[in-house]
Parts: sequence; structure tokens; C-alpha cells
Amino acid sequence: MGGLSFLRRMSLQQKNRTPVSTASTSAEIVEEEPAQIATPETQTVLLLHAARQPYQLTEDYPVPQVEGDSEVLVRAQAIGLNPIDWKAPDFNFAIPELPYISGRELAGVVVQKPRHASRLKVRDRVLVISTDYRDLRKAAYQQYVVAFDYNTVRLPRTLSFEEGSTLGVAFVAAALSLGVCMGVDFSSVLDGPDLFSLVRGVAPEVLADDIRKECLDSIRDYERAVAGDWLAVWGGSSTSANITIQLAKLAGLKTIAIVDKAKHGLRLANHKSIRTDLLVDSHDPQRAVDIIRGNLKGKLRFGIDTRGKESATSLLQALSPGNLATAPPASKDSPVDSPPSPPATPHDSALLSAHLIGLTGLPKQTPPEGTLFHTVPIKLFHEVPAVGEALVSWLERLLSSGLVSPPEIIDVEQGLGSINKGLDRMRKGEISGGKLVVNVT
Ligand SMILES: NC(=O)c1ccc[n+]([C@@H]2O[C@H](COP(=O)([O-])OP(=O)(O)OC[C@H]3O[C@@H](n4cnc5c(N)ncnc54)[C@H](OP(=O)(O)O)[C@@H]3O)[C@@H](O)[C@H]2O)c1
Repeated sequence: MGGLSFLRRMSLQQKNRTPVSTASTSAEIVEEEPAQIATPETQTVLLLHAARQPYQLTEDYPVPQVEGDSEVLVRAQAIGLNPIDWKAPDFNFAIPELPYISGRELAGVVVQKPRHASRLKVRDRVLVISTDYRDLRKAAYQQYVVAFDYNTVRLPRTLSFEEGSTLGVAFVAAALSLGVCMGVDFSSVLDGPDLFSLVRGVAPEVLADDIRKECLDSIRDYERAVAGDWLAVWGGSSTSANITIQLAKLAGLKTIAIVDKAKHGLRLANHKSIRTDLLVDSHDPQRAVDIIRGNLKGKLRFGIDTRGKESATSLLQALSPGNLATAPPASKDSPVDSPPSPPATPHDSALLSAHLIGLTGLPKQTPPEGTLFHTVPIKLFHEVPAVGEALVSWLERLLSSGLVSPPEIIDVEQGLGSINKGLDRMRKGEISGGKLVVNVT
């Protein structure tokens, strides 16, 4: 990259290199935190010029500018690669404009803090979760990245930048699947969010039209998943399964992972944080369904699929809607426009629905009676600051306490220019059971 000609005005550098000192009333010297570190005006990025083409390494591209009061600028140190990064160009979806900048998660250093009061300071080591794929300023495949502070997580010293770049997208997908789609209340886990209530506390018009029903009307209060309930995760080797299983176990759920046991069985059976109560081989899907049904005897109401339509269809067969002898009265948290809950009399019974969440596809059929299909309302994370803030501050606590660990790193590539090679390795199925990350220091 170019040299000093890219630096902003010397006056800005000077101001930031020399901390401003002010005398307090007791004559002690208080050093003010700088609002930013000098940054260049241009940077190197990866640009996608058309679908089904490799990303192009491009120099002299403008460094993105922060807007509003809650955005930060982060200098990337490590980028986590995600399946969407190669699937989007290969299958030509989720590319809102061309040329496009991709990349959904990274770890780095805050170089410009938000204008409003914030957890974040200049020089904080952070991970950034960029679910807002329509805003190119926030994409990870560039040297400098803009992020909302409520989408940015401070990294504990115990975690490297590479480790920090592995888990953000998976964490958001897992927390929203469990908390919104299944109603899991995390308040007992380091004061985590009760997303079921949180989304019902925001004005409904704040929720985008395409996620409002999922957020408010997809599960009733009395059928929320609670400690002791079973959850099956098909595609248990994925990063999103890893974090889902960790969070589900922390909330007291019992877990089943359906995986290629020859490939992942030994590792998962002995894993300290993602060992499940039941590990089922996925090789023969019908056999896997029979094993789950045989073991659970009608008790499995929650399933999350991370692989696609076909395995989601198998997972559907393993689920069993059930009857609750007595339906509790509707709570104040009941969905706004759902039908009234049955009255709570000793003779009434209510159907406890089964819930199938598809991260990457759902069965083609309409849901059978008593079963609901869910998609993850991922945009809640960047569109509703209260949700973003609740999730990132909880993740900070989970990481610093060690209650959540990052997934395994399969390999580390070097430099933005190696991302095409890394994505090719993912296309070929070489990255399995963990993450490929790219060091860009
Ligand atoms: N809806 C959402 O908001 C959301 C959020 C996050 C992720 N997702 C989607 O969920 C899925 C899982 O994401 P992830 O990041 O958790 O996945 P991941 O960690 O990259 O791995 C998924 C698993 O897929 C298998 N695999 C690897 N390369 C493959 C290839 N080229 N073709 C087919 N299978 C391959 C491997 O399992 P085996 O070795 O066991 O075969 C791997 O462990 C992706 O489709 C992703 O786009 C959706």
C-alpha cells in the first residue's frame, strides 16, 4: 500500500499522537482518550465485479467513513471466512450492487470510537459481526471496516485476533435461533438476554416486515424451550452448530448432534464444550431419524438444521409435536396478533408445537399440523440496536468468563490476496469441523 501520501492531515495525526491533557480541580493530570488514531485515506480491498468471478485485489480504494453517532472504524487484523462468501458469487444471490465487497466477520483494533458514549475505546481489540451485507462500508474484505458499536464485541486478552474472527456470525445465528425462534431465556446465563420478551418490547413497526411474524408470532409463551427440553442439530460439525450447542447446553437444554460420525464422532464425543447427550450418524438419514425417535420417544420438539433442504426434511421427521395436559393462561408476552390462548382449566389441552429452524433451507412442503418452520431473523442484530447491544455485551461476558469457546481453527491464510484461495478450499469441502481464517496484519 502507498505510504505517507495517504495519511490524513498532519494536524490530525499530531493531535492524536499527543494525548490532550487537562488539569482537573485537584491539579492532577487527566489524559483524555483520543477519539481516533490517524488512518489513511485509501486502502486495499477485495472487489467482486461480477457473479462467478474471483474477487479482485484493489488498491487505492477509499477508506469507509463513519456516519451517525454509533459507528466505529476498525482496522482489520484477521478475517473469518463464511460459506456465504463463496456461495453468493457462485449462485448469484445476496449481491446488492457491483462492484461488491464481501466478508461478514473480522477481528481488529478500534481506530475511531463512536461519537456517543460507548463501551468502546480507541485501541480496543474487538470482533466485528457484519450481518448488514447491503452496506459495503461494513464488509470484512477490506483493511478498514465500519461497524455499529452494538455489533462490535471487545475481545478478552485470552483470545487472539484469529480466534476472535471465528465465531461472530455463528453466535448471532445461534442466539437468535434459540432466543427468538425457540424462546430460550438466557437470563440465568451471565445475565444474558431474554430475546422473546426483548423483541416484544420494541415497537412492532421497528421490526422489518419480513421478520415481524417470526419475531412476534412464531412461538407462544407456554411452549418456549426450557431447561430439560431436547434440541437436535443436524449438521453438527458446522461452526453455527458448535455455538448453538454451547449456548443450548448453558441454558440447560439436552442436545443431539447429527453428523458424519466417521469424520467427527471421536472429536465431538470427547469435546469439552460441544459434547452432546446423543451423537447420531448422518450417513443413512432414515436410520438417523429412527434412532432419534427411538431414543426420544416423542419428546423432541426443537430442531435446527445447518446443512440444507434435504437434511431439514429428515430432521422434520424426527420431530414430534406433543400435547400439554393443561394450557397455562396467556401471558402478557403472548404474540400480539396470535389467536387467544386456550383458557387454563384442568380439562383443557393445548398443542405444544414442534419447531424446525432452517439456517440454509427448509423442507419444500408446507409444515405438517403442529409444526412450525422458522428462518433466523438475522437482521434484528443490526436493525434493532437493543437486540445488537444485548447480544454483543453478553458475548463479551461469555468470552471473558470462558463459558463460550471459539470453534477450532482449521488453517490460517495470509493476506487479503489469499482469500480467493481460501474460498476455493471451502468450495472443495476441505474446511470441515471448524473455521478457515485469514491474517491480514
Ligand atoms: N440464516 C442465517 O442467518 C445463517 C447464519 C449463519 C450460517 N448460515 C448458513 O448455515 C450453513 C452453515 O454455516 P456455517 O458457517 O456454520 O458452516 P461451516 O462451519 O462452514 O461448515 C458447515 C459444514 O458443511 C460441510 N461442508 C464444508 N464444505 C462444504 C462444501 N463445499 N459443500 C458441502 N458441505 C460442506 C462440513 O461438514 P462435514 O464435513 O460434516 O460434511 C462443514 O463442517 C451455511 O449454509 C451458512 O450459509 C445461515
